[in-house]
Amino acid sequence: MPSAYAAPEFWEERYRAGQTPWEFSGVPPALTRFLAANPAAPGDTVLVPGCGSGQELSAFAAAGYAVTAVDFSATAVERARARMPAGAAVRLLCADFFTCALPRAGFSLVYERTFVCALAPVRWPVVTGRIAALLRPEGRWVGLFYEGPKEEGPPFGWDRGEAEHLLRPLLAPVVTLPVPSAESPALFAGHEWWREWRRPTAP
Ligand SMILES: C[S@@+](CC[C@H](N)C(=O)[O-])C[C@H]1O[C@@H](n2cnc3c(N)ncnc32)[C@H](O)[C@@H]1O
Repeated sequence: MPSAYAAPEFWEERYRAGQTPWEFSGVPPALTRFLAANPAAPGDTVLVPGCGSGQELSAFAAAGYAVTAVDFSATAVERARARMPAGAAVRLLCADFFTCALPRAGFSLVYERTFVCALAPVRWPVVTGRIAALLRPEGRWVGLFYEGPKEEGPPFGWDRGEAEHLLRPLLAPVVTLPVPSAESPALFAGHEWWREWRRPTAP
């Protein structure tokens, strides 16, 4: 039987009730550092799956990326839309990430923050496969990855070895940096890592 959190209603209720302990209010400093070092080159694009209320989207747009963001909670997408400065290059989709139409090999970056850990671990092979397929060759999956307990999620933490094993056939690890506890909401403090994975050039 599918879990409650696989359905948009689970998240919708929490956004409406203001019960969103996963949210970081503002742009995570680790992302600010990344964007300062990696402004977009012409044509660069980023996909943000499970974008929630979209705290980071305008930072990507300001760094020059054309942004596509997806979430299946209508309230979250409305909040993300309300945050967007006029004219920002942001396409917001209220849709299921697993089934919505997105261009294969269409993105320079895919950004992660508390999306994968919101999914049951049994879905990780599918979500990582889809993310890898959406990246351009040499594109990167970057962001804040939750390494913590797996029981009684969401959030479901993955451990380092498991992640490496899952991703090894798809993406190469290129950066692993600890995120200071002060830069995470209490729910994730001490358990977030800034990670970058690169899709190899097609053989
Ligand atoms: C823990 S929240 C994280 C939101 C945001 N990334 C953040 O850091 O604040 C997980 C988000 O994923 C969304 N989500 C979960 N499953 C989804 C799916 N299959 N398709 C689209 N969005 C999904 C939920 O609606 C929710 O907004």
